[in-house]
Amino acid sequence: MVSEAELRHAAELLRAGRLVAFPTETVYGLGANALDAAAVDRIFSAKGRPAASPLIVHVDSVEMAKTLVLDWPDRADLLASHFWPGPLTLVLPKQACIPGRVTGGLNSVGLRMPSHPMALALIRAAGVPIAAPSANRFTQLSPTTAEHVRAALGKAADLVLDGGPSMVGIESTVLSLTDNVARLLRPGMVSQAQIEAVIGPIALGDDAGARSASPGLHPQHYQPRTPLYLGSPPTEGEGVYLWRHSRLEAAKSVQMPDDAGPYGAILYGTLHQLDAEGWDYIAVEIPPDGVEWAGIRDRLQRASRRR
Ligand code: TXA
Ligand code: MG
Repeated sequence: MVSEAELRHAAELLRAGRLVAFPTETVYGLGANALDAAAVDRIFSAKGRPAASPLIVHVDSVEMAKTLVLDWPDRADLLASHFWPGPLTLVLPKQACIPGRVTGGLNSVGLRMPSHPMALALIRAAGVPIAAPSANRFTQLSPTTAEHVRAALGKAADLVLDGGPSMVGIESTVLSLTDNVARLLRPGMVSQAQIEAVIGPIALGDDAGARSASPGLHPQHYQPRTPLYLGSPPTEGEGVYLWRHSRLEAAKSVQMPDDAGPYGAILYGTLHQLDAEGWDYIAVEIPPDGVEWAGIRDRLQRASRRR
């Protein structure tokens, strides 16, 4: 954990336009002052991220969120009261104070109040909203420990705060509230069913046109360096099989948790570790169909090589 002095230093760096990587409950973020276009530019260079890919802005309260959007609708209030602080990002029409650099030129902004105490303390100490994508290079696997961040970004982050392993383990659910019907742009551990229990039926992001509604969603994303196969392992090479129910012949097999929550919590950490071990492939047993697995299925599909 960090000291008060380190937190104050991190907040000063952010106010001075520098980059601070910090823990959240989903994955580690690479943060900059969201109101400072030049600081936000540094995020894009550090990650090698295309400028059209919008960033999520992290807030410490609903009050701060309201200062960043044109309108805070009732359903945003309902969702925030159920899921904030936590792994749900709400996309709403933005205020002019948010530079276009943050949103990839879109008129909307993705907002999230994280639950990790160090993330909340950092936003409070900085006194400004913090724009932060996952703290990895573009298309690579997201970091769930400070060590992952250091390995991926090196000196590109001015400071890395260590808050232990991220407990949710995959990126937040992204929900757009810019149209009459709310639309799920990225599945995550806050599931469609949980959202619908609060605001009624929502649309799903893989409908026609939805890809352009969330330009940050690239089909090849979240990839380990080792070729990853979803389903049965390839016939050549020495590899690893991640299984839940049926164990298969492989040089190494790793039993994964049965439930989506604990599975998501260790997925990226496991992939980072196996990547470091240098196998020919990582094969993963196809996860179940339930809505609570949608985020995990999505990340594994993006991580996998087409065969
Ligand atoms: O859990 C998370 O969301 C982590 C932590 C650090 O908060 N952040 C994260 O950021 O995963 P990033 O940049 O890797 O992913 C941002 C996602 C992208 O899919 C992007 O398209 C979507 O959020 N997004 C952000 N702003 C948007 C907007 N205005 N309209 C549509 N999609 C947006
Ligand atoms: Mg990312």
